[in-house]
Amino acid sequence: MKILLINGPNLNLLGKREKNIYGDQSFEDYFKSLKTKYNNIDLEYYQSNIEGELIIKIHEVGFDYEGIIINAGAYTHTSIALRDAIAGIKTPVVEVHISNVLTRESFRHESVIGPVCTGSIMGFGLDSYRLGIESFLKS
Ligand code: DQA
Repeated sequence: MKILLINGPNLNLLGKREKNIYGDQSFEDYFKSLKTKYNNIDLEYYQSNIEGELIIKIHEVGFDYEGIIINAGAYTHTSIALRDAIAGIKTPVVEVHISNVLTRESFRHESVIGPVCTGSIMGFGLDSYRLGIESFLKS
């Protein structure tokens, strides 16, 4: 089973950025622990701060992989192009967020990608990504 985790803008700064919201672990470290835990599946990771690069990656894997887990960062709330990319592929996509965006500023309350994703997981810290993986294993 091939699953790709995608992180969007500013998520390369995890561990350094707004630690009170996003914690102090880098995603690279967390991803290593995921790889160890899920050594029976083909788990990959991609990060970009650039909207077009995220779209290119979604197109690239979106007809072959069994699942995509995406934290689109702030593009969650703005990017119709990302939404269209997700709508246009075959691979099911699960949206994740580290924080519970519904408890934060109102501009974070809307997800434009949510309606074209299979489901959304938010508010569990980095564990949101693990829960995203579990959702593919259980289906
Ligand atoms: C985030 C929430 C977004 O609103 C924010 O722009 C992020 C991170 C989260 O994981 O909680 O960059 O997606």
